[in-house]
Amino acid sequence: MALSAGKAIAPLQQATLFPLFDKALYASEGSEKDQISLRNPAFTENKSLPVHRWVPWIAGFSAGFISDCLACFIPSRFNGKTPLVLDPFAGVGTTLVEAVSQGFDAVGCEINPYAALACRVKLNASRLDSGEVLRHCEAYLQHARKPSSGGPNRIPKGFRSRIEFFSPKVQRQVSRYFQFFSAIEQAEIADVFRLAFGAVMVSFSNYTYEPSLGTRPGAGKPLIEDADVPTVIAAKLRQIAADIQAFRSSFLESEAEPGCGTIHVRNFMDSEGQIGRESVDLMVTSPPYLNNYHYIRNTRPQLFWLSFVDSSQDLKEIEDANLGKYWQTVRDKDPIELQFNHSELTAVLDRLRQIRIEKKAYGGPGWANYVATYFNDSHRFLSTLHRLLRPGSFGVIVVGNSIIQGQEIKVADFLAEIAVAQGFRQAQVECVRSKRVGNSITTSAIRKGKRSKAVLSESIVILKK
Ligand SMILES: C[S@@+](CC[C@H](N)C(=O)[O-])C[C@H]1O[C@@H](n2cnc3c(N)ncnc32)[C@H](O)[C@@H]1O
Repeated sequence: MALSAGKAIAPLQQATLFPLFDKALYASEGSEKDQISLRNPAFTENKSLPVHRWVPWIAGFSAGFISDCLACFIPSRFNGKTPLVLDPFAGVGTTLVEAVSQGFDAVGCEINPYAALACRVKLNASRLDSGEVLRHCEAYLQHARKPSSGGPNRIPKGFRSRIEFFSPKVQRQVSRYFQFFSAIEQAEIADVFRLAFGAVMVSFSNYTYEPSLGTRPGAGKPLIEDADVPTVIAAKLRQIAADIQAFRSSFLESEAEPGCGTIHVRNFMDSEGQIGRESVDLMVTSPPYLNNYHYIRNTRPQLFWLSFVDSSQDLKEIEDANLGKYWQTVRDKDPIELQFNHSELTAVLDRLRQIRIEKKAYGGPGWANYVATYFNDSHRFLSTLHRLLRPGSFGVIVVGNSIIQGQEIKVADFLAEIAVAQGFRQAQVECVRSKRVGNSITTSAIRKGKRSKAVLSESIVILKK
C-alpha cells in the first residue's frame, strides 16, 4: 500500500481550485462550447436507454453524464492514438459502454463478478448476433412449453435465504431454464442467457429491492406462488436482441468503429500490471459511497444462481476487496487509525468515537472504524489512479456525503484534499444534487445519533494530474 505517512495534507488552497464551467481549463481543444455543463449523473435515464437498460444497478451512472465527460475532458487532438477511458469501480459498465460506443478504448475493474458479467456482455454488444439470441429465445420458449417429466431442481449449493427464495412452481420453471441454457454451446449466447436471468430473477422471487434486497412480506408485498417465468425472461432476451440490432446498425450507418473495452474482475487497488502506468486519458467513476450499501449481499441471488460463488467464504473474499469494506466486517476490530495524515479527518474520527460510546461496535466506535477504513482505501484508490493517469489528464468522481451517528462527513471534500496531497495538480468539488433519495442508509442505524441538519447530497470531484 502506498502511504504518505508523515506527509500532512493541507486543506485545499484557493489556488488549487478552478471554476467548474471555465472553458479554458476544461473544454477539449477546439471545442465550440463556451460553457461546460454535465448532465445529471443519476442512473434513472439508463433505465430506458438501449444496452444500458439491460441490468438495473444501484448508484449506476447515466450515459448522458458520461457522454458529457467524454466531450469535456478528452482532448480533441491525441496524436492518432485512441484515448483510453478508465472506470476503476465499473459496476455494470455505464462508463465503459458509453466510451466504447463513442470509439474510445475503455478499461475497468469490478470486484462483483455478476456486475462484471453485465459489463462484459454489454461491451460485446457490437459483436453479438441478435438473430442468434432470438433463435435461442424461441427454442427456449418451445422447451419451456414441452410437458416436463420433472428433471433436477437446481438450487445452488450453499445458498441460504430467510424464506424460500422461489416458490416450488417458480423453482421448477427456473430449473428448466438452466437445463436449456447450460446446453448452449456458443459461450457468448450462453452469457446473454445468464445475464437475462440475473436481470429479472428477483422479479419472480419472494424477495424485492427496496432498494436493499429483503423479503416481499417484509416490504408488505405478497409472496409469489406462481409466475410466468418464460415470458418474463423472453421479454428481457428480446429487449437485448433489439438493442444489439440497433447498436450494430448505428455503427454500420456511421461507418464508425466501436472502441475496445476490457473489464478486469479484480480489486482496482491491486490492478497494477493490468493497466499501463500513465496510459489513461480520462477516468470517470462512482466509487461505493460511505453508506454501507452492500452490493455483494444485494446480489447474493445472482452470485449463487450463476455459480460465481458457492459459500459464504467466497462472498467474504469479495466483501474484503470492497472499497471501504463494510461496517459489519470492521466494527468489532480494535480502533482503526488513518494510515495517512489528515488533521480534519482525524478530528472527525475522534469525535465519532465519542458518540454513543456505550454501544461500542453499534455506536460511534464501530462506525469510526468503518469511516477510517473507507478513507484508507480511498487513499489507495487515489494513489493508484495518480500512477495510471497520463500527466495533464482528468479524473471525475461522483460521490455522496454521509451522515453517520449525526455527523456529516463531506466525502467529496476529503477525497479532493487527499488527491491534492497525492500529487494531483488541481481538485475541485461541485455539489450536483441535494436530498439524495432511494438510499439504504436513510432508515438504517447509520444516521442515528444527535439530529443533524445536514442533507444527503451528491458531488462531482474533478481532478487534474
Ligand atoms: C457505485 S457502483 C458503480 C456503478 C457504475 N458507475 C455503473 O454505472 O454501473 C460502485 C461499484 O464499485 C465496485 N467496487 C467496490 N470496491 C471495488 C474495488 N476495490 N475494485 C473494483 N470495484 C469495486 C462495487 O462492486 C460496485 O459495483
